[in-house]
Amino acid sequence: MKKSNLSFLMGYLKKHIALLIISIICSLLASLLTLYIPYVVGQSIDVLKLGQDQVDMQKILFNCLLILISAIIIAISQYFSGVINTKICYNITRDLRRDLNGKIHRLPLKYLDNQPVGQIVNRVISDVEIISDGLIMGFNQLFSSVITIIACLVIMFVMNYKIAAVVVIFTPLSIFVARFISKSTFNLFKKQSTIKASQTGFINEMITNEKIVQSFQMEKENNGVMKKYNDELENIGIKAVFFSSIANPSTRFINAIIYAGVALTGALLCLGPDPITIGVLSSFLFYVNHYTKPFNEITEVIAELQNSFATTSRVKELLEEEEEVKEGDIILEKAEGDMDIEHVNFQYTPEVPLIVDFNLSVKKGTKVAIVGPTGCGKTTLINLLMRFYDPQKGEIKIDEKNLKDITRHSLRDNYGMVLQETWLKETSIKENVKMGKEDATDEEVIEALTECHCMKFVNQLEKGIDTIIKEDGGGLSQGQKQLLCVSRIMLTKPPLLILDEATSSIDTRTEIKIQEAFNQLMEGKTSFIVAHRLSTIKNADIILVMNNGNIIEMGNHEALLEKKGFYYNLYNSQFKLS
Ligand SMILES: Nc1ncnc2c1ncn2[C@@H]1O[C@H](COP(=O)(O)OP(=O)(O)OP(=O)(O)O)[C@@H](O)[C@H]1O
Ligand SMILES: [Mg+2]
Repeated sequence: MKKSNLSFLMGYLKKHIALLIISIICSLLASLLTLYIPYVVGQSIDVLKLGQDQVDMQKILFNCLLILISAIIIAISQYFSGVINTKICYNITRDLRRDLNGKIHRLPLKYLDNQPVGQIVNRVISDVEIISDGLIMGFNQLFSSVITIIACLVIMFVMNYKIAAVVVIFTPLSIFVARFISKSTFNLFKKQSTIKASQTGFINEMITNEKIVQSFQMEKENNGVMKKYNDELENIGIKAVFFSSIANPSTRFINAIIYAGVALTGALLCLGPDPITIGVLSSFLFYVNHYTKPFNEITEVIAELQNSFATTSRVKELLEEEEEVKEGDIILEKAEGDMDIEHVNFQYTPEVPLIVDFNLSVKKGTKVAIVGPTGCGKTTLINLLMRFYDPQKGEIKIDEKNLKDITRHSLRDNYGMVLQETWLKETSIKENVKMGKEDATDEEVIEALTECHCMKFVNQLEKGIDTIIKEDGGGLSQGQKQLLCVSRIMLTKPPLLILDEATSSIDTRTEIKIQEAFNQLMEGKTSFIVAHRLSTIKNADIILVMNNGNIIEMGNHEALLEKKGFYYNLYNSQFKLS
């Protein structure tokens, strides 16, 4: 059990300290009263004057009443402590999920780009569940077990230190066995949850790409990988079950030895020169049982807690992951649109330089097109402008302000971005379009949809703009999905616009029409457009021709054609193809 994991969970527990104290008081009350009952029973036995045919009925009845009242209070306190503990655990689950969710939004894209989605989902959902299950068990049982052990020890020493000493001598044996077993299970459970996370990641990846899996006939290969995961899980699972199932019998065995030891010592003491009463011995035997039982429970709970602690490391790891570099505090209200990129170097991986000493100055209102072969760094440049990634060297400025000094939120508020990958939520078309402007009216939504040539297909849908579309726009064509994403931007009318292959799935004629609509919208504003179809960016103010992360040509369409260089060849090859 790592201390740091414990203090991590304690951090979450602190907020519920008031509830925790009430629950502790309830547990304490229940445990102490449970121990009070055998004491009363012992006293009742001593009231029977054996061999003298005398019974103090009044005392016995009074003791019975005490036992009844204690039992009622025990039941009530146990009920309350159970309810409170469950509430605490659910609150912790909620807080953990909230923090994980918030964290994911603050992590650099670099981290998310390199992690299988399934693994992250697993941490937020099932790992948190395992932690809370462990905690519920921990609170409900571990706590009362520990109280019982301590209280029993104190009472036993007060009653008779000699018999108590016998009990204490045997205790380390019980603890040793419990520790040995729990250590072994901890490592196994840790391995188990790591494999489970990888398996979830794998399944997630396969299901999201099932079409590709089937088209490449990778089913057999996937089944093989799946079998490997299952075999590993089986292997570790069996070992883990073995250790956790020997936990109970072994501690029970030791408890039986302790019980026998006490019975023997007690019997000898009853017959000795300074005899103890039969009532005391009988209470003592009760206590020994009460005292050893929690050891059994503790081993069980510890197995569960081990699993939960092993999982805690993984959740903690994600929460402690390095966040995006601290942002500045300038709030960019409404950008004018002057952009300056000065001596920027950037690479995703340390060994592979991509953008080297990149310089570009764009005045407000310029329409910049970025073209170049696949993998030349167009999207990378956009990533830098949006501050999804930070350059390793150099500066990017917007209206003379360094991007690093501007809050990310206000920076991204100024951009309208449409990418090749579309993102639509499982809600109505209207809500999807309104995403960036919650208070837009239906008229505004329809206007934006009309400008983006969406109304034709939207009208054909059952409920028009109120039609619910499936997650990720299932049921719509790729081009239709892109058009919806474009209308979202058309509605918000942001000062800066970024289109990265935004219209590549749309037919050329519609694409040109949308660009015209954008031209109106972008009048006097700065825009960056990445497009493979050069016919659509002919009228850009500047065309940047990129290759291997750098600008190799720059100018407007006519100037670049005259140059008869890279762009000229690119344009002609497309022209010939069409
Ligand atoms: N997250 C990443 N981690 C590591 N390398 C990356 C990452 N994203 C892109 N790259 C690499 O950086 C280079 C530039 O990629 P980029 O996405 O900018 O190309 P692009 O010009 O947009 O290409 P396309 O026209 O195909 O969209 C490529 O070689 C790519 O392999
Ligand atoms: Mg790209």
